[in-house]
Amino acid sequence: MQDSNTGDSKAIVTNQLGVHEKLVDIVEKHLAHRSQKPFQQHTLDAFALANERVSAHKGKLILDSCCGVGQSTRLLAKNNPEALVIGIDKSAHRIERNDQELVARTSTHDIDNFLLLRADLNDFYRLIVREKWCVDQHYILYPNPWPKSKHVQRRWHGSAVFPEIISIGQKIILRSNWRLYLEEFLMAANIANRRGSIEEVKADIALTPFEAKYKASGQVCWQLTIT
Ligand SMILES: C[S@@+](CC[C@H](N)C(=O)[O-])C[C@H]1O[C@@H](n2cnc3c(N)ncnc32)[C@H](O)[C@@H]1O
Repeated sequence: MQDSNTGDSKAIVTNQLGVHEKLVDIVEKHLAHRSQKPFQQHTLDAFALANERVSAHKGKLILDSCCGVGQSTRLLAKNNPEALVIGIDKSAHRIERNDQELVARTSTHDIDNFLLLRADLNDFYRLIVREKWCVDQHYILYPNPWPKSKHVQRRWHGSAVFPEIISIGQKIILRSNWRLYLEEFLMAANIANRRGSIEEVKADIALTPFEAKYKASGQVCWQLTIT
């Protein structure tokens, strides 16, 4: 997987003709039976750190899932000074990069209303629900698409943790360069009684490195907003 902003990103190739034929069954099964998998220690530790900060914070709470190097986390924190923004990614390499060029490019030297943590969201989401965090906005920007039909359960809406994902955030904002991913997520959200709409991302300034890369390659980026 690349992080660069070069314009050589290939469009998604999938063997699916439309929404996955087993999606409804998969989502209903997960909504009926919650995951009981044990939590990994590193995510429990990361959650304890975040929970301390969240408990002490009185204002708005924003979750930036799959935040990569944290560009969106920084920009969201800068644009929402009253909020606490928690960025989560499972990749230590990305989370710990501490890229001064990124800090300079996003003009976020003086911003400290955010936290970047390495954790596995399959566990972290369940801990958020258990601890009853009140998340105002929940961003999932350019999740790994897993476009092969046989990998549908690796997509967030096909995963065992979807019931928790869809319950986190008064507003959920999901972006992808693969519109079908968002259509599937919206269908799964509807099964869980949440509504939303999909539109093209028009903003000039990319919120994330992957968004910049897709735009530089001439691809359309889409946003699903669940309210
Ligand atoms: C395609 S990248 C997008 C990164 C960033 N949002 C962007 O747009 O530049 C997807 C990210 O999701 C992270 N990710 C995938 N599965 C995850 C999980 N279970 N828990 C936490 N992060 C995960 C990956 O490490 C990767 O950084």
